[in-house]
Amino acid sequence: MSKVNIIYWSGTGNTEAMAKLIAEGAQEKGAEVKLLNVSDAKEDDVKEADVVAFGSPSMGSEVVEESEMQPFLDSVSSIVTGKKVALFGSYGWGDGEWMRNWVSEMDNLGANVVNDGLIVQEAPEGDSAEDCKNLGRELV
Ligand SMILES: Cc1cc2nc3c(=O)[nH]c(=O)nc-3n(C[C@H](O)[C@H](O)[C@H](O)COP(=O)(O)O)c2cc1C
Repeated sequence: MSKVNIIYWSGTGNTEAMAKLIAEGAQEKGAEVKLLNVSDAKEDDVKEADVVAFGSPSMGSEVVEESEMQPFLDSVSSIVTGKKVALFGSYGWGDGEWMRNWVSEMDNLGANVVNDGLIVQEAPEGDSAEDCKNLGRELV
């Protein structure tokens, strides 16, 4: 059974809602899914997974959340090499710059980034909620 681990940071719940929908999609396809707030995630949660989905909203000025998510990503930078990775997150007013940069950084680490980074403005609803579920299905 495919192991899909979803590790996210969310301040107001929008990225968390995306994470839950991605988990639903992956579970529907029969994956064994772990949904983890980054504060509870360990390096092993990245190591053991067949696919890891990382989620962070756009924070600061078009950056991944800096107090917990970025340090965790830094701590697993050598583990993601060759790993199947998906990226997702919510944003407010920008044009997705943080996600474009994040995808390039993951590419540069040698991760096999399987999507272009799924971005949703504020909370996932309707079509954007379906996009999250579809991403989960595609990860399996
Ligand atoms: C401190 C702070 C900085 C933010 N910076 C950006 C930004 O640079 N670009 C953007 O599009 N949205 C920005 N936002 C908006 C959030 O990305 C948006 O509200 C998102 O839905 C929050 O996701 P969350 O509910 O998972 O925390 C910022 C929000 C906060 C609180």
